[in-house]
Amino acid sequence: MIAYLDFVTRISLDDKRRTFVAQGLTAGMRVLDVGCGTGDDVRSIAALVGDDGFVAGTDSSHAMIAAARARGVPKPAAFYTASAAQLPFEDASFDAARAERVLQHVADPSAALRELRRVVRPGGSLLLIDQDWDSLSVAGADRDVTRRILHAFADALANGTAGRDARAGLRAAGFPEVEIAPMISTPSLPIAHELILRPAIDAALARGVVDAIAARDWLAALLRAEAQGGFYCAVVVVAALGR
Ligand SMILES: C[S@@+](CC[C@H](N)C(=O)[O-])C[C@H]1O[C@@H](n2cnc3c(N)ncnc32)[C@H](O)[C@@H]1O
Repeated sequence: MIAYLDFVTRISLDDKRRTFVAQGLTAGMRVLDVGCGTGDDVRSIAALVGDDGFVAGTDSSHAMIAAARARGVPKPAAFYTASAAQLPFEDASFDAARAERVLQHVADPSAALRELRRVVRPGGSLLLIDQDWDSLSVAGADRDVTRRILHAFADALANGTAGRDARAGLRAAGFPEVEIAPMISTPSLPIAHELILRPAIDAALARGVVDAIAARDWLAALLRAEAQGGFYCAVVVVAALGR
């Protein structure tokens, strides 16, 4: 999981920086990063808010928080093991909060969103970034098998439609203004293979929606499509900013 996060961070550094700017993170702010993983975003945000600000990184995984602390805790930052639905902070203690690729793993996102709303001060902001995994499309192989495998991948997540639900979730949690920026991610075959196709095959086999031969033929067809320049993979990623 940590190797996967490092890989995604490496390929999305510019996108991440753009989201810090879009949310208006500046010197002196108090910022919360929920589901911070190994804390790379917390360290980047610490450099933006400076010593007069504060960044808290929380994650429900002890292993992630241990890895985050081992990688370094800059002066204005701290890491906490905590579920998104139960944050160890006073009401209204942050100017801005964010949860990137987290709510797709949360079975009850509305409880987490209410908790995030509680710790953001009135006038503050909450940024959510998540894929809409039901929008995943892949070209180059049998359409029916493709559907079965990709749906198994979306269904294996606790909340595979987190991206499309972000706007309504923010409104319901008490953010009256919500701006959304849906983006299309089009990973190349090597990246899609690591992050999507291989886990999708595993999910489809575990759910028994395809057998091992169909899964092998499916991947072989995608590799042939790639060799002929016809491979295509796309998924909608929704950034939703509530104020
Ligand atoms: C895909 S990683 C994203 C990490 C980081 N936000 C990023 O963009 O690089 C998802 C993280 O959310 C954490 N997570 C999953 N469910 C959570 C929950 N209910 N509360 C807090 N963190 C959670 C996982 O442990 C994992 O570190």
